[in-house]
Amino acid sequence: MVKICCIGAGYVGGPTMAVIAFKCPSIEVVVVDISVSRIAAWNSDQLPIYEPGLDDVVKQCRGKNLFFSTNIEQHVSEADIIFVSVNTPTKTRGLGAGKAADLTYWESAARMIADVSKSDKIVVEKSTVPVKTAEAIEKILTHNSRGVKYQILSNPEFLAEGTAIQDLFKPDRVLIGGRETPEGRKAVQALKDVYAHWVPEDRIITTNLWSAELSKLAANAFLAQRISSVNAISALCEATGANVSEVAYAVGKDSRVGPRFLNASVGFGGSCFQKDILNLVYICECNGLPEVANYWRQVIKINDYQKNRFVNRVVASMFNTVSGKKIAVLGFAFKKDTGDTRETPAIDVCKGLLGDNAKISIYDPQVTEEQIQRDLAMNKFDWDHPAHLQPMSPTAVKQVSMTWDAYEATKGAHGVCILTEWDEFKELDYQRIYDNMQKPAFIFDGRNVVDPEKLRAIGFIVYSIGKPLDSWLKDMPAVA
Ligand code: NAI
Repeated sequence: MVKICCIGAGYVGGPTMAVIAFKCPSIEVVVVDISVSRIAAWNSDQLPIYEPGLDDVVKQCRGKNLFFSTNIEQHVSEADIIFVSVNTPTKTRGLGAGKAADLTYWESAARMIADVSKSDKIVVEKSTVPVKTAEAIEKILTHNSRGVKYQILSNPEFLAEGTAIQDLFKPDRVLIGGRETPEGRKAVQALKDVYAHWVPEDRIITTNLWSAELSKLAANAFLAQRISSVNAISALCEATGANVSEVAYAVGKDSRVGPRFLNASVGFGGSCFQKDILNLVYICECNGLPEVANYWRQVIKINDYQKNRFVNRVVASMFNTVSGKKIAVLGFAFKKDTGDTRETPAIDVCKGLLGDNAKISIYDPQVTEEQIQRDLAMNKFDWDHPAHLQPMSPTAVKQVSMTWDAYEATKGAHGVCILTEWDEFKELDYQRIYDNMQKPAFIFDGRNVVDPEKLRAIGFIVYSIGKPLDSWLKDMPAVA
């Protein structure tokens, strides 16, 4: 029986290993982590992450060929294939601070593998890492090998949170990079054999190590760039009276462009896009390519601009101040169908509104008050460390409250900001919301989920990203 061990039981390690176990009953899969509470949650009825379909997959395999454990060294030493799916945060100090990936957790995992291994291993990079990380890991392992042979593979993960199980069941592609030596090719084949249990062969791409590592960064940069492109156009739509949904539809009808990922919004979030682009920028700079670095940096600048623009719209339209006013925030997760709040635009929007002294009342169907308080109190990039190593939020942000009900959150509010595209926000009784709000009542739709005309008919003043402006907003300067 092939034994797989995955180091890191997070958003990537948990679901990917659960699906491997589900699709390969003949393989034993153990997911290990230094976080005791995370492993306890994986072994309980309340999994540590929310992902549609995940519960079912875990329940069917857990205890049979899928295990979660904190006994890292034992399972690493017994495994044939070791996936490493640990955090790769952005460095906050020292060389490359604010851009480069911090490989502390990766390096410590590699040193531990070298310490405990007694048989040959295939070590698979699942985390997103800078180009040439495999080479560095290889050096750590071979210099400490005591006769054990290692093959390093790069197998970046392309799942999207919210649709992770679906993506893992039917991936667009699985990418495996390896050394172009007989041993390297054998290791690639061993990993291919795992995926071949359910992924058609023509969807399994093999490349050299560096191409695989760079493909992941490039793929995320392209995706984020599409969002920044449509968001840049949304600003121009508002200035000219064009409608970004119509423009995006017309553009996306071109089969060379395609319709997906063209929704204008308050900005992209999530743990990967910003981090991976910063990493790409840093690699370009290190390789003497400042023009290329600046090109990609602009994708992040437009994203920041879009979040600022949104806050400015809110404040400008409410008589240039939200001080002491109740603003309801519907949705805090970085997108629907996940409870993940890492780099969610809601953090910057809330901080912007708090900067103008607003009182904020938040409702999100999947995010807890504790998480929101942590997010608002944490320094940039601190979220990307194992939970028990994150600095604890010193004091709660008092002007922020949280409820589990959208009507309660909006009661008595002056304005409502929709920041996540949860389906349920389309179905709310907006007449009821309007009746219970201060007047004039404002809605700022950062995800284009509501029909502005219907809400205007109720009496709301509506701002929808990239849509023709309400006459109320036309003369309000909102760009900082
Ligand atoms: P995460 O923070 O949810 O999970 C990482 C886990 O690794 C944590 O539970 C942490 O306690 C554990 N860990 C850290 N150091 C360890 C060590 N030395 N030994 C054992 N466990 C250790 O992170 P997530 O989202 O799963 O991301 C992991 C990697 O995958 C990152 O490089 C990320 O950029 C990449 N990635 C993330 C995607 C996503 O959608 N979240 C998609 C594709 C790639």
